[in-house]
Amino acid sequence: MPDNLLKNPDISVTIAGIRFKNPVIAASGAFGYGREYAGLLDVGALGGVCTKGLTLEPKTGNSGMRLHETPSGLMNSIGLENPGIPAFIEKDLPYVQELQKQGLIVIANLSGSSVDEYAEGARLLDMCGVDMVELNISCPNVTSGGMAFGLDPETASYVARIVRKALHKPLIVKLSPNAPDITAVASACIAAGADALSLVNTFKAIAIDVENRKLVFDNVSAGLSGPAIRPIALRMVWELAESVAVPIIGLGGIACTNDALEFLLAGAKAVQVGTATFANPAAMLEIIGGIATYMEKKGIFCIEDLSIR
Ligand SMILES: Cc1cc2nc3c(=O)[nH]c(=O)nc-3n(C[C@H](O)[C@H](O)[C@H](O)COP(=O)(O)O)c2cc1C
Repeated sequence: MPDNLLKNPDISVTIAGIRFKNPVIAASGAFGYGREYAGLLDVGALGGVCTKGLTLEPKTGNSGMRLHETPSGLMNSIGLENPGIPAFIEKDLPYVQELQKQGLIVIANLSGSSVDEYAEGARLLDMCGVDMVELNISCPNVTSGGMAFGLDPETASYVARIVRKALHKPLIVKLSPNAPDITAVASACIAAGADALSLVNTFKAIAIDVENRKLVFDNVSAGLSGPAIRPIALRMVWELAESVAVPIIGLGGIACTNDALEFLLAGAKAVQVGTATFANPAAMLEIIGGIATYMEKKGIFCIEDLSIR
């Protein structure tokens, strides 16, 4: 084997025809629209950025407590606060579009409270400069739409099909770990035209304020993320990697190189990092370097060869 290959493993990955220069993507909701992290890390060095969940109209989000820490986890009840797709395109997209010149892949995370809203949102995103769309049918923090679409294979495939029709760009469907049968939902979404899957979104959970004898969140439940969910997310990625043919993007509690490698070894083609970025904005860059070092050490030349499946 030529010596230079050992020193320079290829950490790029291609998902649905889109080349990522490395397999590490900022997860939706933990990275704003990219611009928010500009002074904290070299955003252009990431493989990709998923925007905060976008809806057609602006949303103010949920009332009351929005974030609550648990041992090894974070609960959130943001409720998809966002400026709406037209404002995103006008005000936020230009920043990340500049970074596309450095190879950054921009993924818009699309949400909606009705099928028509998803379709119209997809049409707008199709016409702007984002590279891919991640369909969020897995948000546990909104009362209409969101996760309600992602728990049942038939409903999930209905939304995915409508969005697929409205969109010419590659479509990732983001799955909910709260679905009774995540494999059935995944298969239905692939049949409806999903080019790739990302999993997992947050786990539905509750917290109670013992002193004040009341629920912590106005919305009753919230979404649990962070290291606490990682082994369960990993198990789901492992199981899906066996049963589906489309690329899988794995996430859930990834905070360091070893965590990311577990997902890549389980068969994910790329990873996303969410909660960890709040505590350590450099986490994703450390992981990118760490994956390359691991591959050099193990004599592995491309990301696909990491999988132990
Ligand atoms: C504060 C916060 C906001 C989030 N907002 C979104 C969102 O808008 N759309 C979405 O698909 N996922 C959203 N998520 C879920 C994350 O993208 C990710 O799926 C989940 O947190 C698990 O990954 P992690 O443990 O690395 O954070 C959010 C997560 C957090 C913590």
